[in-house]
Amino acid sequence: MGEITFEYKNANIEEQEISALKGQVELIHENLHSKRGLGKDYLGWLDYPGNYDTKEFERIKKTADKIVGDTEVLVVVGIGGSYLGAKAIIEAIGHSFCDLLEETGNKYPYIIFAGNNLSSTYLCHLLEALDGKEVSLNVVSKSGTTTEPAIAFRVLKDYMHKRYGEKAKERIYITTDSTEGSLRKLAKKEGYETFSVPDDVGGRYSVLTPVAFLPMAVGGSNLDKLMEGAKDAMNKYNDSNLDENDCYKYAAIRNILYSKGKESEFFVSYEPALESFAEWWKQLFGESEGKDGKGILPISLNYTRDLHSMGQYIQDGRRNIFETTINIEKSRKEIKIPRDENNIDGLNYLAGKTLDFANKQAMEGVMKAHLDGGVPNLKINVPAINSYNLGQLIYFFEKSCAVSAYLLGVNPFNQPGVEAYKRNMLKFLQGK
Ligand code: PA5
Repeated sequence: MGEITFEYKNANIEEQEISALKGQVELIHENLHSKRGLGKDYLGWLDYPGNYDTKEFERIKKTADKIVGDTEVLVVVGIGGSYLGAKAIIEAIGHSFCDLLEETGNKYPYIIFAGNNLSSTYLCHLLEALDGKEVSLNVVSKSGTTTEPAIAFRVLKDYMHKRYGEKAKERIYITTDSTEGSLRKLAKKEGYETFSVPDDVGGRYSVLTPVAFLPMAVGGSNLDKLMEGAKDAMNKYNDSNLDENDCYKYAAIRNILYSKGKESEFFVSYEPALESFAEWWKQLFGESEGKDGKGILPISLNYTRDLHSMGQYIQDGRRNIFETTINIEKSRKEIKIPRDENNIDGLNYLAGKTLDFANKQAMEGVMKAHLDGGVPNLKINVPAINSYNLGQLIYFFEKSCAVSAYLLGVNPFNQPGVEAYKRNMLKFLQGK
């Protein structure tokens, strides 16, 4: 439990600059909630945590239990919004070295993501890794026609049928459009179990729907807590008043910074387990805002690692950036730095202190240095990494992203630019 809080004292902006956006934000809120704005057909995510198909939810949890019981490796086939959210949550919640833990009785299947690239080496290695393991397959594609997952599924379906024969159908799960598309048709023909992607939720807004429910549950997330967190966030961030709504404040401040030439946002965390969460965030904001020649460029970094690769640029390069730090207040695990008799490394001043203490001091030092170097920074405090808080955080970013895109004057829910590469790729594939 606990609340997410937002700090912007280091944003270098005045309160009246925020207040100036109050009217606009209120209007956006009204339009969002009365489903009148651009992309209004894709607002299903807005009320979803308080209004989802509980029957399907229970069926997914049951299926997840079955998979946990009969599967060592779950392969999740999907790309973009059809896998990034699930990967983000599974890695955030999971063990950093869960594959090594297998030997010592890790209770959840190992989850591999496929169909998010066209690398033959990746797919061949994956097939090699499945050797001798009990496997299940979850294909996630709303359209059912996206090339990358479609090719991977064709290969993996073939593998599953060769390996399990008739019984393959008991190990293949399809998450797709509720009525249409080739995957739906195929599932019907083959007798695969299916789950439905809500019609009014786009890929990057779909992590808290059946799109990611199955893999997240198989990976050990508590779906009930996740949705409870999202529902609490849905209620908390339902205030049209910008002064009272941190989610809207984050959107407004991003917009103000952008208007002052801060065109890139560095999304930073100090937990390696949040690396994929940052990838999810990057897609959410990049695909929602980057259009019509506008948009903040979303960049994700993991500190302190990336301070040793990007630190120089951030401190001293072009001054068109700002930083948003995710601060995990309480680390899931703790370890103390030991005293050393000889102290050759000179670290005894830290003896007895926790490693998380060092991590937090690094964070404070970095934020101050970057601020001094002309990089405004925002901070989002999360009490701890758990399903409930991740549910809150996802909803916080989804809603702030929609408001931020509307403030920019773009439709948050389309992605016309993605089609261009798809059209060309298809032409080349067909030799046209
Ligand atoms: O956010 C989006 O809409 C995209 O990233 C899609 O999720 C991605 O292209 C996959 O689409 P589909 O689920 O139809 O295979």
